[in-house]
Parts: sequence; C-alpha cells; structure tokens
Amino acid sequence: LTTADTFNTSIARWRQSLNEPWNRLRYTLYQANLKRHLPAPPLQILDVGGGSGSDAIPLALQGHTVTLVDYSEKMLAEAHHQAIAQNVADRLTFYQADLASLPTLFPQPTFDLVLCHNVIQYVPDLPAAIQAICAPLLPGGLLSLISINPYSDTFQAALLRLDLDEAHQNLDAREIYTPVFDTTLRRYTAEELIPALEAARCPLLGHYGIRCVTDYIYDNERKYDPEFYDKLQRLELALTDRYPYYLLARLFQLIARKVQSP
Ligand SMILES: C[S@@+](CC[C@H](N)C(=O)[O-])C[C@H]1O[C@@H](n2cnc3c(N)ncnc32)[C@H](O)[C@@H]1O
Repeated sequence: LTTADTFNTSIARWRQSLNEPWNRLRYTLYQANLKRHLPAPPLQILDVGGGSGSDAIPLALQGHTVTLVDYSEKMLAEAHHQAIAQNVADRLTFYQADLASLPTLFPQPTFDLVLCHNVIQYVPDLPAAIQAICAPLLPGGLLSLISINPYSDTFQAALLRLDLDEAHQNLDAREIYTPVFDTTLRRYTAEELIPALEAARCPLLGHYGIRCVTDYIYDNERKYDPEFYDKLQRLELALTDRYPYYLLARLFQLIARKVQSP
C-alpha cells in the first residue's frame, strides 16, 4: 500500500532523479503542452500531489498563484524550501492533505487550473480520485493530468531489458513495481481516464505524449551530452502531439476543460 511514508522515505532518491536529463525533459514538455491551452497570468492554480514543487514553482515565477496539496510532509518541506530559494514563497500556499479531502478543503470551485501530475498511479479508487480532483475547478477551468503510459512498459521490458517474458506476462498487469519510491503503481491507460474525466464533467481538450522516444534509447549516458539532449528535446517537442508517436510515450498528458453549464 502506498502512503505518505512511501514518499517521505524516498525523498533523497526523488531529489536526485529530478536532475536526470529525462526528468528535466519531462517538465519542459509538460510546460510546452500546457502553454498551448493556458490563459495569461495571474491564474489561481491547484497542484494536487505537487511534491517538491517542480511544477508549482515555475508557474509561480510566471506570476500565477499556486496552492500545493500533498500528503507527504517531506515533499512539502522541500517545496517550501525551493519556493523561498526562488523568491516566490508569497505566491504559494501549502496544505498537507490527502487528495480525497479536496472537496472538503475547497467546498466551492475556486481554481482556473488544476494539475495532477504523476499522482493518479498511486491512487486505488480512480473514479473517486478524479471526482475529487475536478471538484475544485471553476466552470471553464482546465485540468492537466499526467500519468505513466502502461503501453510503454511492454517496450521497455522488450527493447531495453530484452526480457520478453516480462513484456508478455505484464501485458494486462494492473500493477507494476517502481524503484524510485519502492512501491507498486497502478497502470491506468488514457482510454480509461478519459471517460472518468467526462463523468466528472471535464471532457478532453488535448492528448499528448511525454517522451515518445527518450525512454527507448538504451544509452542513458548520451542523454547527458548537451548536444544530444538539445536534439532529443527538439524531436520530443515535435512528437508530443503527433499520431501515433504520442500513444507510445513513457507518459501521457491529458488536458481537459470543466463544462460551463450547471
Ligand atoms: C511522483 S510524485 C509527483 C510530484 C509532482 N506532481 C511532480 O510531478 O513533480 C507523487 C506525489 O504525489 C503525492 N501523493 C500521492 N498520493 C497522494 C494522495 N492520495 N494525496 C496527496 N498526495 C499524494 C506524493 O506525496 C508525492 O509527492
């Protein structure tokens, strides 16, 4: 079972992972995709499971006001520390809470944008979580949801680890192990999430792939080479919304809009 302690005890590994080129690329891509849909600042933004603030702080630097909710005390402490270091602490508010309590924390729709990036895979009750995440959104507000694309597990096992048994056996697996947080995560496809978003009155606006090729390049060392990294970034930015590449990326990003009518 994944709990706040799962994340509290993995903070050092998480911090280290943020400097890896493929993770830097993840934040660049998500920001570029979001930018296509985002109105001008200042917006009221809710970052659900916002972790150490890697999404929230760049948005605060652009002039937005961000509320970060996370159940991990250590993640929140790191986000607070980063906000002070970047001089944006006055644009951020922090709540230590489970995402299930969002409708209680924010009984009225308040936010122009809700982010839920790399969180949903740790949540066992998908429809309840999606309802809770969408509830604080204002009519017409945007949701950005990122999660791991289960299809990419097959390619990683077969192409990187040459483990064809693993690739075959896990085709329909519901859960898979992740070393960063030493826990299992739930595999939700975009096709499962889109109807859950519609049920929460948030139909889809955009479907993007994050890292369409990066995770299938075996040689990780090359990704630290600035020239290679620049070319990789340029290619990934070109593939992120291109069929069929985005369907096979390591992560997907769904942008949805809360319906206007009551
Ligand atoms: C992989 S990290 C992602 C952090 C951030 N969104 C990002 O992409 O950089 C997942 C975060 O979700 C938080 N989290 C997971 N389940 C949660 C829940 N049920 N309620 C609140 N926070 C949760 C964890 O504490 C952790 O900080």
